[in-house]
Amino acid sequence: MEQIMVLILAAGEGKRMKSKYSKVVHKACGKPIIKWVCNAAKEAGIEEATVIIGHQAEQVRECLGEDYNYVYQYQQLGTGHAVMQAEDILSKRDGLVFILYGDTPLITGDTISKTIDYHITQGYVVTVVTAEVENPAGYGRIVRDSKGNVLKIVEHKDASPEELKIKEINSGMYCFSIKHLLLALKELKNNNNQGEYYLTDTLEILINKGFKVGAYVVEDPEEILGVNDRIQLYQVSQILRKRICIRHMKEGVTIIDPSNTYIDAEVKIGIDTVIYPEVILEGNTVIGEDCVIGPNSRIINSKVGNNVQIQNSVIISSSIGDGASIGPFAYIRPESVIGENVKIGDFVEVKKSIIGNRTKIPHHSYIGDAEIGENTNIGCGVITVNYNGKEKNKTIIGNNAFVGCNVNLVAPVKVSDNSYIAAGSTITETVPEYSLAIARERQINKENWVIKKGMHRR
Ligand code: UD1
Ligand code: CA
Repeated sequence: MEQIMVLILAAGEGKRMKSKYSKVVHKACGKPIIKWVCNAAKEAGIEEATVIIGHQAEQVRECLGEDYNYVYQYQQLGTGHAVMQAEDILSKRDGLVFILYGDTPLITGDTISKTIDYHITQGYVVTVVTAEVENPAGYGRIVRDSKGNVLKIVEHKDASPEELKIKEINSGMYCFSIKHLLLALKELKNNNNQGEYYLTDTLEILINKGFKVGAYVVEDPEEILGVNDRIQLYQVSQILRKRICIRHMKEGVTIIDPSNTYIDAEVKIGIDTVIYPEVILEGNTVIGEDCVIGPNSRIINSKVGNNVQIQNSVIISSSIGDGASIGPFAYIRPESVIGENVKIGDFVEVKKSIIGNRTKIPHHSYIGDAEIGENTNIGCGVITVNYNGKEKNKTIIGNNAFVGCNVNLVAPVKVSDNSYIAAGSTITETVPEYSLAIARERQINKENWVIKKGMHRR
């Protein structure tokens, strides 16, 4: 195959986003818009990419990292001008360049590949990606002759009333022979309504020189949708979200209501897992097989094993072992490691703690900075008192321990293997193995107190 590189235009200002951040670093389904574009190129097998940056250039650069070439366009004098900035890089190469915009995240690797194939088999020097749309307003129009040959692209602002009726529009994406692109760039002028150097004019220039140019019409016009404002960001995200859900469903995941399920691009889910509505799976979360992710759960950058049940819970940067059951209404905070077959029940908060296999924390607890062994039972309302106002301290609880209801464990403190703690105790010292710790006042009953005090309630 011919040598091929991509050129991504991303120097524009993106005013309509009304944002401090570059338009192309805004995220759709957890991934910056421009990364979607880069990944589409990678899917088409193109590894080498040059990005044209200008407005908020450093943000774009930081977002993509140093695996890319960057070229600065200090003044945005049009799409043709943007490509001119890459002349040095282009002139060192042969073969093809695929031009993309940094703000059109719906383009697929498949369409890029098909355009390249079409370009090569037809022997064109440039192939523009086009779409037939109902409302072409704002876009450049593809002007063809009576035989269907492409003649030129005319910008909306420069179009005649006849040309404005054309429904085939320019996506702004092209496959160029580098040699011919460089040839045409030399002749580009800015004598148009916007005073810009239009990349689109290169087609007419090349036709006038006797070269063959063509257009590849995308099957699905949504692929060329760009993001110019936050409404379009929402529209594009919705389409990407649907694509992600469909991919998981095809791979064996049951998603009860894809239109109300929010799965980021990089999330992985095992087969036969069932995802309920209003679930949000973010970042690089990995979910195993045969899990049930119940409604209203939000899982961020976490690893969930197989056969895990999660209901109405939030899990952040933690791992959950096979067979565990989480929630409803549990909050698992960063750096927690939940073992196999653990039960974390309702209204339990776990922070930066390790919970051993088969341990149960069924209700209303706060477990912070703790290490709990295996097969231990934490009663309702148990609290690790991990903060003394100055620093965080650790609580260590062994295996097969039984911590009664409403116990305060004042850290640093250790509860040994096979020990018991009586309900309501405030534990400040080590509980030795095989012992029962009781740390509370004894109950006193004042007999006939109600009668003596006249405190009858009726
Ligand atoms: C361009 C096309 C139009 C097409 C439309 C599709 C031209 C002259 N027109 O119009 O035919 O229908 O895209 O969306 O090419 N950019 C730079 N530097 C610049 C100018 C633009 O990097 O100097 C980048 C922008 O960041 C953006 C992209 O190029 O990602 C397109 O620029 P924009 O100004 O939106 O082009 P349109 O006028 O929409
Ligand atoms: Ca645009």
